[in-house]
Amino acid sequence: MTVHETDQDPTHQVEAASKAFELEFERFARFTGDQNGVAGLSLEQAVAEERSLADLRTRHLGKRSALAASKKLIGKVPAEQRSAFGQRVQSVEADFLGRLDAVDSCLKKFIESQRIARENIDVTLPGRRPRHGHRHPITLVRERIEDIFVALGYAIEDGREIETDFYNFTALNIPDNHPARGTLDTFYTTDGFALRSQTSTVQIHAMQRRGVPVRMIAPGRVFRRDTPDPTHNPMFFQVEGLCVDRGITMAHLKGTVEEFLRRMFGADTVTRFRPSYFPFTEPSAEFDFGCFKCQGTGCRICKNSGWIELGGSGMVHPNVLRIVGVDAQEYSGFAFGLGIDRMAALLYNLDDIRLLFENDVRFLEQFE
Ligand code: FA5
Repeated sequence: MTVHETDQDPTHQVEAASKAFELEFERFARFTGDQNGVAGLSLEQAVAEERSLADLRTRHLGKRSALAASKKLIGKVPAEQRSAFGQRVQSVEADFLGRLDAVDSCLKKFIESQRIARENIDVTLPGRRPRHGHRHPITLVRERIEDIFVALGYAIEDGREIETDFYNFTALNIPDNHPARGTLDTFYTTDGFALRSQTSTVQIHAMQRRGVPVRMIAPGRVFRRDTPDPTHNPMFFQVEGLCVDRGITMAHLKGTVEEFLRRMFGADTVTRFRPSYFPFTEPSAEFDFGCFKCQGTGCRICKNSGWIELGGSGMVHPNVLRIVGVDAQEYSGFAFGLGIDRMAALLYNLDDIRLLFENDVRFLEQFE
């Protein structure tokens, strides 16, 4: 109810303001005195009531309230009635204020006690046990590989996953027209960098950084536009090995990789070494192991050959040594690159390497 200064009967206006207040205040009256009225409220309800009470205060005591308008009339009533009228306005205002404050303090007390109760910590309850994470099977296999090679005197190199053309191809003696450079085989960033398609890139970084002689392995992630199947993923892991020194021969290569495979998979594991081709090694050879699914009898996974390719290797091509400034007459070396995901499949008896990256915790937590 709005009262204008032009209204005829100021006393009537004050009484009307008082009546309007009574009507709206009625439902809050139960909150005063002892806290019985608030006891049935939830914390959220009490907070809402406190907000409604604040609105009510603004409506009846604020600048635009009927009572504020009445106050402005004090100076306009005839002098003989002024004092009585002024006192009436003040007593109505004091009454509103007193009652609003009483309810407000009741609600506030209740809200505070409810908040404290809610935040109360029962120190006798058992704590929540933090869930322990565990290492991914690829990490477990990588660490095993690292342990074996560190014991054989190899350093561990880190590498970049995004490479320039030089490291991914040119320095590895891969000609300009080689299909591996095409976008059908390699992923490129929009700036023309390659996501490395093999860990062999680290051979170049390692020889540039360490010079020769060098003996290092470099485990890491690589990327290829391969169609996923039980033995292929577009993102997978390799471990590169490089040994360059005076007098290194193919016999060192064969002996090292075979010793590694024996330590990794046990003496019974069947492996084979067969001639192959890589632009950055000459001569080159590949390692296979007996299929992890059929143990060599032939199945869908090994395409009925009984063998699964584990990695490539060979004697470092003289062009690769030359490009990093190593005298190819004085030094020779071998290198290899093995698939870690396929080693994990063999070790853990998996019949599909894609399981490793489906992120199913029920699968992953079996390999603590
Ligand atoms: C190479 O990547 C050569 N860089 C290896 C090498 C290093 C040769 C040093 C000579 C000297 P290849 O493309 O064959 O070779 O891959 C090596 C191994 O990576 C494969 O034998 C296989 O175990 C694994 N591999 C290849 N493609 C995939 C794939 N899509 N998913 C999972 N593993 C793969």
